[in-house]
Amino acid sequence: MRISVIGCGYLGAVHAAAMASIGHEVIGVDVDEEKIARLGRGEAPFHEPGFEALLREQLAGGRLRFATGIEQVRDAEVHFVTVGTPQVAGGWAADVVHVDAAVAALAAIARPGSVVVGKSTVPVGTAARLAEALEGAGSALVWNPEFLREGFAVRDTLEPDRLVYGVRPGAAGVEPTLEGRPEVAAIDAVYAPMIARGTPRIVTDWATAELVKVSANAFLATKISFINAMAEIAEATGADVTTLADAIGLDARIGRRFLNAGVGFGGGCLPKDIRAFAARAEELGLGDSLAFLREVDAINLRRRDRVVELVLDALGERRSDDRVAVLGLAFKPDSDDIRDSPALDIAVRLHGLGVDVVATDPAALDNARGRYPRLGYVATAAEAVRGAAVVVLLTEWADYRGLDPVTLRATAGDSPTIVDGRNVLDPATWRAAGWAYRGMGRG
Ligand code: UGA
Repeated sequence: MRISVIGCGYLGAVHAAAMASIGHEVIGVDVDEEKIARLGRGEAPFHEPGFEALLREQLAGGRLRFATGIEQVRDAEVHFVTVGTPQVAGGWAADVVHVDAAVAALAAIARPGSVVVGKSTVPVGTAARLAEALEGAGSALVWNPEFLREGFAVRDTLEPDRLVYGVRPGAAGVEPTLEGRPEVAAIDAVYAPMIARGTPRIVTDWATAELVKVSANAFLATKISFINAMAEIAEATGADVTTLADAIGLDARIGRRFLNAGVGFGGGCLPKDIRAFAARAEELGLGDSLAFLREVDAINLRRRDRVVELVLDALGERRSDDRVAVLGLAFKPDSDDIRDSPALDIAVRLHGLGVDVVATDPAALDNARGRYPRLGYVATAAEAVRGAAVVVLLTEWADYRGLDPVTLRATAGDSPTIVDGRNVLDPATWRAAGWAYRGMGRG
């Protein structure tokens, strides 16, 4: 099929390359000329395992191209809208200005019979608000949320665990099933290989589809904040939150995944999505229903305070003389994304408190340096740790999980402390090598 992808950020760029790889003819469009030029040259504008190889392969195969002008997508049969919905300045709501602009532009040029597919994460009610202009121009609107994780974006796009299509709700009693719509058949044709593999697919109304996305992220954020609240209790009672997570996680109804206590969640999705969801509930007069999300956010942010406290405590009198090594700046491993990163936030706060911070990250150094040029940066963990009184592990890159405490002890400062912000190190091994070990909720 001929497909367009409007917005070539994380989601759009990966979606465009993935759709080309399953046989479609794809054009990706973005207003950012530099980004489009880089994508067109086969350069990934962000760190994502497997993406650059896929991009190059699809560009070379001739089915994928990139452009800046929206008029170039006129002939597409299916248009995906993948623009960002960041948090508004000075509030909690999502800013949907880019979604509105993309849909308005498509309404003006899309050919009748085409289908517009919203993938951006939007407040519930957005699709219903946008549909009229498109339907007036002869295009149908489907909301098809995306559940990809950074670091696994290519695999999650090509092998999703579910497909959700939200379509215009049918009139009660007139149209009992939404399945027979032509727009559903069009999207089935786009995702044919996934459907042939038996990927679960749910066809529902717009509002449900919009809510599936934000409620999934709200649930994941709540799970993380739940275990971080248990970490707070464990800290006060001498209990161990990792053992607690292992034990409750064995109950299949609870599950062990997303129960890792630490410095909390960050990134371009979970934090802003829970805030936007709570803000939308308030607009609907249902603030009480999602009031708990404010608590989820507060628990999450308190974990950053806790790490700062642990570091200052370890430094004691040595606060202005001794060095602190920060290992990790990205919001999670296998990513160079520093949006709302707990790691970078903690590094900047320590620096602001007069601490001599030396930070490193395998992929996010350039992004962090661009944002906070005054922090000290070095290329490797070995350099960061040299002479440090306190080492803080904030992003659990495989390289950092595998660090040898004996080797590092030889170059670190006197009586060093390791603060394990992700609970991924073995306390006994580090203590045996001469480190004071402090974890998150570990006694
Ligand atoms: C998240 C969701 O997992 C995706 O399903 C969703 O599609 C995406 O947002 C989105 O809305 O676009 P992502 O932001 O890539 O994906 O990252 P996650 O893997 O969910 O991790 C989020 C944060 O939670 C990270 O900072 C991670 O370190 C933290 N985390 C995760 C924990 O602190 N503890 C855990 O047990 C798990």
